[in-house]
Amino acid sequence: MSNILDARFLKEFVQIADEMYRHGWDERNGGNISMLLDGNELDAFRPDQGPIRRMPTGFSAPVLEGKTFLVTGTGKYFKNMLDDPESNVGIVRLSDGGRNAELLWGFSDGGSFTSEFPAHMMSHAARIGIDPLHRVVMHCHPTNLLAMTYVHDLDERLFTRTLWQMSTECVVVFPDGVNVLPWMLCGTNEIGQATAEKMKTARLVVWAQHGIYGAGRTLDECFGLIETAEKAAEIYLKTAHLPIRQTITDAQMHQLEKRFGVRARSGYLAPEKADFRKKD
Ligand code: 13P
Ligand code: ZN
Repeated sequence: MSNILDARFLKEFVQIADEMYRHGWDERNGGNISMLLDGNELDAFRPDQGPIRRMPTGFSAPVLEGKTFLVTGTGKYFKNMLDDPESNVGIVRLSDGGRNAELLWGFSDGGSFTSEFPAHMMSHAARIGIDPLHRVVMHCHPTNLLAMTYVHDLDERLFTRTLWQMSTECVVVFPDGVNVLPWMLCGTNEIGQATAEKMKTARLVVWAQHGIYGAGRTLDECFGLIETAEKAAEIYLKTAHLPIRQTITDAQMHQLEKRFGVRARSGYLAPEKADFRKKD
């Protein structure tokens, strides 16, 4: 049996957690990550062994029955993930229609999965339904996005358009835009259900006055999504109080759509003809 600490998926997971910490997105125990594992990856490490312990989840998620996730622990500091994966992260398999999580590895100090497990698992269920290659959900507290939720309209179209206008890459990286939830109590099934609902139409979901959720096929993709939105929020905060002399127009965004083969969220840009007419 190979040593799980040498597994590529585990190394990448704790490396990205460390990178998130170094970006200032995960103070103290802020933030959490979960990644759907390929059963074959795991079988190589724990052949024929039963669960270490069983933890109730407090919700049901039948579509995730039998699925295995690598997930950060509640109260664990991202700062420490890289040095000590075994106590800070765990591998759990959902059973009983998602009502229980069987611990297969990790949480070696008796810990448990993140308090945001409902939002993570319900988001996975929503994203798998849309993208069969989906694997990662990432939550963190990036400073500029968080700050933006205090001063910007939380209307999703307006919030998305502002971010798209802050750098040319944005509409290409997240053409589906950013969905926004008003402040809600975190760690609950209710915020989990609301987040999952928002995940059906965008891979980024802002939690006002709290942080952001990202979903993607890989850790890098998910990190890159949040990184791009966070940088746009930073540019917004650097410019919001200054007279704006020019911005990226909707006509230019349509050019980007064509050049990069993406489709901006329907209704978020002025229709091409109307936009060109305005320019004349
Ligand atoms: P956990 O320590 O339970 O993962 O919670 C951190 C957090 O960001 C809550 O939203
Ligand atoms: Zn949080």
